[in-house]
Amino acid sequence: MNIVVVGPGAIGSLWAYHLHQAGHRVSLWHHTPSQSGLYPLSLCTLAEDTLPTIDFTTNDTEALKTADLLLVTVKAWQLEPALLPLIQHLHPDTIIVCMQNGMGATDSVYEKIQHFPLVLATTTHGAFKTDAQQVCHSGLGQTMLGAANLSGEQCTFLAEVFNHALSEVLWVADIRGPLWNKLAINCVINPLTAIHQCPNGTLAEEQFRPTIKALLSEIVAVMRAEGMTTSEEELSARVAQVITATKANHSSMKQDIAQQRRTEIDFITGYLIQQAQQHHIAVPNNLRLFEQIKQMEQLWIQA
Ligand code: PAF
Repeated sequence: MNIVVVGPGAIGSLWAYHLHQAGHRVSLWHHTPSQSGLYPLSLCTLAEDTLPTIDFTTNDTEALKTADLLLVTVKAWQLEPALLPLIQHLHPDTIIVCMQNGMGATDSVYEKIQHFPLVLATTTHGAFKTDAQQVCHSGLGQTMLGAANLSGEQCTFLAEVFNHALSEVLWVADIRGPLWNKLAINCVINPLTAIHQCPNGTLAEEQFRPTIKALLSEIVAVMRAEGMTTSEEELSARVAQVITATKANHSSMKQDIAQQRRTEIDFITGYLIQQAQQHHIAVPNNLRLFEQIKQMEQLWIQA
């Protein structure tokens, strides 16, 4: 397939590298001003081998015009500005796959992209960039894909395409389930690690137990109102499992705050709060974390 990866950060680069290795023609697109040309990328695997550098073409309008698939891996808040300028170049059959943390990132652009086959994706792979030209695969995960519109439902074959590149990939009938489950985990781990500037593993300490419990009881109420079948015990076990599995990792929000970048809080806790309001459910503990992160962001926005 002709594939353009929009937003070659850690996760985008990981997929670009693996899709290239699986035999696809992969090109990259940086949404920040960038010159077209070649972008060298190497991969540090889970076994800590460094695989050879691949020279990807970047910001090539011809690649956009012939793209069968656009894999959009920018941050949730960058989705609209990154995607809108590109859609004029795309063939109407180009499949758009959006892989972001959180939920609701496609809402503001939905009207403008709904005539393309749309797929939403969520992944639990861990990856980080050591520098602009190297990505490290730091944790094995699972990727879920699911349709976001009617023509997206014709794209089940993508599970095989993605699985061949970087397993395990599953196609799900309702992507909202996996997205909500990931959102629940992010609502707990991301703001707490960002506020306390700690690695994920610190949240296993006794002192965090009451806070995590209070957050999860609000999250479960909202998820149930949204038609998800879940329980506090189930979510609590899942959160504990991710905290243990990623104990040495620094969450994306912790890193964003440390590096004074805009966080994805609007699409994580912010999305939860929006849905809670629609169902008239009080979520004071999540609201407190949301406001704390917003205040931290304001410090450098004002500066
Ligand atoms: O955003 C992140 O960092 C990750 O989704 C997670 C699961 C919190 C692990 O660090």
